[in-house]
This record gives sequence, structure tokens and C-alpha cells, in this order.
Amino acid sequence: MDEATGAITTPIYQTTAYHYPEGEKYRYSREANPTVLELTKKIVELENAEMGVAFSSGMGAISTSALALLKPGNSVLVHRDMFGRSYRFFTDYLKNWGVNVDASNPGSDNIIEKAKSKRYDVIFVENITNPLLRVVDITELSKVAKERGSILIVDATFSTPINQKPLELGADIVVHSASKFLAGHNDVIAGLAAGYGKYLNVIDQMRRTLGTSLDAHAAYLTLRGIKTLKIRMDVINRNAEQIAEFLEGHPKVVKVYYPGLKSHVDYEIARKVLKGFGGVLSFEVNGGQESALKVMKSLKLIIPAQTLGGVNSVISHPATMSHRTLSLEERKIVGITDSLLRLSVGIEDVNDLIEDLDRALCTLY
Ligand SMILES: Cc1ncc(COP(=O)(O)O)c(C=O)c1O
Repeated sequence: MDEATGAITTPIYQTTAYHYPEGEKYRYSREANPTVLELTKKIVELENAEMGVAFSSGMGAISTSALALLKPGNSVLVHRDMFGRSYRFFTDYLKNWGVNVDASNPGSDNIIEKAKSKRYDVIFVENITNPLLRVVDITELSKVAKERGSILIVDATFSTPINQKPLELGADIVVHSASKFLAGHNDVIAGLAAGYGKYLNVIDQMRRTLGTSLDAHAAYLTLRGIKTLKIRMDVINRNAEQIAEFLEGHPKVVKVYYPGLKSHVDYEIARKVLKGFGGVLSFEVNGGQESALKVMKSLKLIIPAQTLGGVNSVISHPATMSHRTLSLEERKIVGITDSLLRLSVGIEDVNDLIEDLDRALCTLY
């Protein structure tokens, strides 16, 4: 409820500044805005955190957090199989600012071993990873991080607080691209971070300084989306599991990557650290890039687009879309082939989605 008016939904405080601000909580909306603060309360509740901060995008959350916590000479550990732009931010931009960045190969054991090999100031992992849905054992990694004094940041965009709460598994900070499942309707760009106050206060000061702040209207849309997060994720988890099983048995599909499938390399870890396996799955089709693009373009219900996490199912070709900034060599190490498609499953009737996929796959020879 809005304290000022009694409105039962959070109003959009579309204002730049506040009357007679000296000494007051609200002065200027880059720094603090009531609608945005309501959203930060929500992520604090969802993640069981001490403090939350909202950003203009997921990249805003990631870059601002990293810039706030690191300085030249510090070391960061990331893994190669992450969202292309996050990877580039760490390996190109932060490196240019004098931060040492190491990247581990895909797989929980690889990052845990590397985390033990030297002291990192920050360890940043995606869980579940984009686009091959690898799962890191956050419980084990957080033990190593604590022993070594590393700050563990988990990007939980793919898992959402419904399927995993990284802070409860021992992480220090969780970040989200709220543009995806949290907002959930493909109509907003937003980012969130939550965790211990000692880190989030520093990050919040950096946000105020860099200006990676969220707009009130985007905060309102994100808040509205979060109201249905649980019921959307329940349907999405179920739909994705059924589609993964369907694709695994399809003659035109070579391989399916979904952590809920027994065939997935991280199935056992997924069962340990996830409550649900999420809405994203990837699969390789017979033939190369031409076949993958043909399937993508033949779909009628599933939309070809470079996003995920919405109520509508969306498909993309990582090699030419989300992960196009990775070199051929980097894509090879991660396992992103030209015939790989990434599917974000929505809340449509699962039979309609399966029919759409089947028809598109059957256009292949
Ligand atoms: C796992 C993950 N983290 C962060 C981002 C960046 O989020 P945004 O697009 O909101 O900046 C993305 C975008 O696709 C993503 O997939």
C-alpha cells in the first residue's frame, strides 16, 4: 500500500526531484525514487537479503557492482560460458582498467578448482548459465570463496528466486537481469542486485554516481510482473521440462541441453541446488547454421528474438545473436555450435508449442 495516499498498488512517482529536499530522504530521482525503492524491497524479500538496489538494466547491475567492489590490481574469476556482453565487460573493459581477469572453462569443478588456485577478490558466476544451461554448485563454490576471502556474486537471471536463492546457498550478492523472468512480459529493461548491506551500500553509492538508476515507470512494470512470478515460473518450469523431453526424442534434434534432463552433464548438481530447472533450454539440430536458422524462421508461435524469460516463447541463435561477440575459439571452448538454438519457454499451452516445434523441425531434410 502507498503510505502517502492509501493506493493499493504502488504509484509511479514520475518526478525528477522533490519539494524542499534539504535533509529529506528524497531529493532527486537518480538517487532515490519511491516506486524504485518499493521494487528494491521486493527483491530483498524474494532473495532473503539485507539490502537491494535497482538498476537501469541487468548490465547496469553487473557493471556497477563490479566497479564498486574492484580496483586496479584486484583479481576476478569468471567462467567462459556466460552471457556474451557480461563476459566482454569482464575480459575487455575491466582488464583495461587494470583488473586481472581469469576465466574458467565451463563446469562446476573447473571454476571451483580455479577458485582454489589463488585468491580472487571477486568471483562472478551465472547460475544457470547462458546458453548451455550449466549449473554451478554454489554451495561448494561459496565455501571456497569464504575460505579465500572472495566476494561471490551470482547472476541468477535464468534460475529466478523461485528456482534458486543463491544467498541462502552462501553467495554474497545476487544479481538479475529483471528484464527477463522477473518482469516477465518482454516490455521492460531493468536490473537488480541484493545481498549483504556492507556490499550493497557501496554498490548503491556507485549507482548514484554512475547514474545506472532505474526509471519509476520501469520499476512499476517490474513490480507488476513480480506479482505473478511464482505462477509463471511454475507453468514455465513444467512446460520447459515437457518440451526438453519432446526434443530429446525428435529425430531432427542432435542434442538437448536442459538441466532437468538426466542426460545433462550437471543433472546431479541441478537437483542439489535448484528447486525447478527453469524455462530456458538449448538444442542442436541436424545440419549446421542453415538448418538452425531455417527452424527458427519456420516457427509460427515461437518468436525469433534476442531475449528470454517472458510469457511468450522466444527462440534465438546464440552464435549470431546473444553470443556473437565471442570469437570462434571462445565459442568452441564454451560449446556454442552453429546449429545451436536457445529456446525460452513461455506460458502458452505446451501442446501448441510442441506442435510448432515439430512442424518447424520437419522442414529439415
Ligand atoms: C544471464 C544474463 N545476465 C545479464 C544480462 C543482461 O541483462 P540486461 O539485458 O537487462 O542488461 C543478460 C541478458 O541477456 C543475461 O542473459
